[in-house]
Amino acid sequence: MIEIIPTDSALGADVAGVDLSVPLSAHNFGTIYQAWMRHVVLRFRDQSLTDDQLMDFSRNFGPLDRNPRHAKAEHRSMGDSSDYVNVISNVVENGRAIGGLGHYEAKWHSDMSYNPVPPMASALYALEVPPAGGDTSFSNMYSAFEALDEETRERIANLTCVHDSSLNSVGQLRVGFEEVTDPRHTPGAVHPLVRTHPVTGRRCLFLGRRRNAYISGLDLPDSEALLDVLWAQAAAPEHTWTQQWRVGDLVLWDNRAALHRRDDFDGTARRIMHRTQIGGDRPF
Ligand code: OGA
Ligand code: MN
Repeated sequence: MIEIIPTDSALGADVAGVDLSVPLSAHNFGTIYQAWMRHVVLRFRDQSLTDDQLMDFSRNFGPLDRNPRHAKAEHRSMGDSSDYVNVISNVVENGRAIGGLGHYEAKWHSDMSYNPVPPMASALYALEVPPAGGDTSFSNMYSAFEALDEETRERIANLTCVHDSSLNSVGQLRVGFEEVTDPRHTPGAVHPLVRTHPVTGRRCLFLGRRRNAYISGLDLPDSEALLDVLWAQAAAPEHTWTQQWRVGDLVLWDNRAALHRRDDFDGTARRIMHRTQIGGDRPF
């Protein structure tokens, strides 16, 4: 029997009693989907998945997006990684990194929101985890939006913001980009600061990432000041929940309505995660 067990935080729920390595019944998928829309982030513990099974599970929600562009500093091997399974790891083999993001802190972000059509979701599956550190936190952008005062909500209702495509979430320059010196010229997609979720119909903050962000049409200092107000709310502890990884955890997040960040960890420990990203639609 499938069971949904919400966290006592602003978002997140455990889904127990389901094996994701085999096709989901329509009934179980319906239960999972409803819980996901309600809790924004779902955790499935004690899974044992091949990459094909991870992709098959993810495709229940929609077609997959390709992996993002690597950063030069990562020195990644192109090895056996597929176009649709993004390896997130600090492990180095034969002088090449098997995955991205290393052991560094990843700042709050939404995955690939610098694309005009960002993924609706990411599914991150833990194969190896370090003894300490590397926790991943999530923040609920519905409640962050609702917690803003009315004046601010009205002020941002029709504003747009650029989501930087030049840096990855640990601050490394992606291949093919130059360092941004003036946020008014940041490369990346421009999205509404407040988006309407296409399924729930609820409004949420859509901030993407803080570095090099710029609110279109404002003077730079005004943009910085308003972004600081919004980010203070987005990262406030009352909207967040933190995942402490165990091997076999799969965490699925709604990339439209949540931000996430990762703690750093000891670079001599090993952490290997496999991620899919599920295609979304244009934010409105
Ligand atoms: C990601 C990411 C978090 C983590 O995979 O999108 O930001 O816990 N990683 O490694
Ligand atoms: Mn991410």
